[in-house]
Amino acid sequence: MTQTLTVLGLESSCDDTAAAVVRQRAVDPADILSSIVFGQNELHSAYGGVVPELAARAHAEKLDQCVREALATANLTLADLDAVAVTAGPGLIGGVMSGVMCAKGICAATGLPLVGVNHLAGHALTPRLTDGIPFPYLMLLVSGGHCQYLLVRGIEDFIRLGGTIDDAPGEAFDKTARLLGLSQPGGPAVQAEAAGGDPARFRFPRPLLDRDDCNMSFSGLKTALLRQRDQIVAEKNGITRQDRADMCAGFQQAVADVLAAKTRRALRLYLAENPVEPTLAVAGGVAANTAIRAALQAVAQEAGVVFLAPPLSLCTDNAAMIAYAGIERFRGGARDGMDLAARPRWPLDQSSPALLGSGRKGAKA
Ligand code: KG4
Ligand code: ZN
Repeated sequence: MTQTLTVLGLESSCDDTAAAVVRQRAVDPADILSSIVFGQNELHSAYGGVVPELAARAHAEKLDQCVREALATANLTLADLDAVAVTAGPGLIGGVMSGVMCAKGICAATGLPLVGVNHLAGHALTPRLTDGIPFPYLMLLVSGGHCQYLLVRGIEDFIRLGGTIDDAPGEAFDKTARLLGLSQPGGPAVQAEAAGGDPARFRFPRPLLDRDDCNMSFSGLKTALLRQRDQIVAEKNGITRQDRADMCAGFQQAVADVLAAKTRRALRLYLAENPVEPTLAVAGGVAANTAIRAALQAVAQEAGVVFLAPPLSLCTDNAAMIAYAGIERFRGGARDGMDLAARPRWPLDQSSPALLGSGRKGAKA
């Protein structure tokens, strides 16, 4: 099917209310005509994390306005669309339901086709949106709720090579920020502090590097951080700005080292089967971290593999990736009915056994 498709995407699976319009002419690269994201940081800041009920209510209140802005920015009306794509999971169920109901409402009123999209597939297909790369490629999906290596073989064909057995790295960044009194989401705050810190001053564990697989563990990092923080507080009756910066730098370096080492292993597995024009792509909120991006780029370079990282606005949650994944599914013939379900869990690779532990938002993975 080579027709031009213009699709509205909706995303509301965590704490960003997002709507976007993406257009793809035939097989050309897709154009993001608009991408609107309403964050909820202020709403949750007093609680130190995302409160699911507050998030769901805010999504329900803001989705209409978000859709209107996405259409206005694209200079289009609903009549110009070919379909509506919506995140149908995995994620915080109240938020996912808000998005799915909004999309169903638009489709019922207009007669537009409805396409449900897996949020993780949205992230995993982002390098095709940004760079139009062919299948297969290796994807490191690393965010607040998930961390996994995926061999991406097709729109709905993902093989998980490994992932975190407990916390996702974004979750570890968020907890680190909380323990050090920094703002949420923790990733950008910890990265900013780490810029002025010495990564060698504090020792952080690098778990599971002795295991020759692609699984990772990040939950020990916060325990190490807590111990170090408490030790300094006991010694000096408080922590200085420099102590905090050094802890952030050490923590960030440990995450980068683990991801780099495990990416080397994942690349070995991937290259054994896919030696022609190999590509390593990253996606998800933690892929916005400059130190982590640099570490992964170095690993790819060392292996002679092309490295792709999306612009920061497409690393964190957005609806352009959902609209684009919707275009891919729609071209593949997918259509969903009014019985489209909102799913809290929805692994991309249905054949892989669930990993031990799931983390705070790890059920998404
Ligand atoms: O993909 P995303 O927007 O939402 C999920 O699906 O989880 O990722 C959000 C996560 C948060 O945990 C946030 O702290 C982290 O991505 N993050 C970062 C950075 N920017 C966002 N982590 C490290 N460094 C960053 N610069
Ligand atoms: Zn996400």
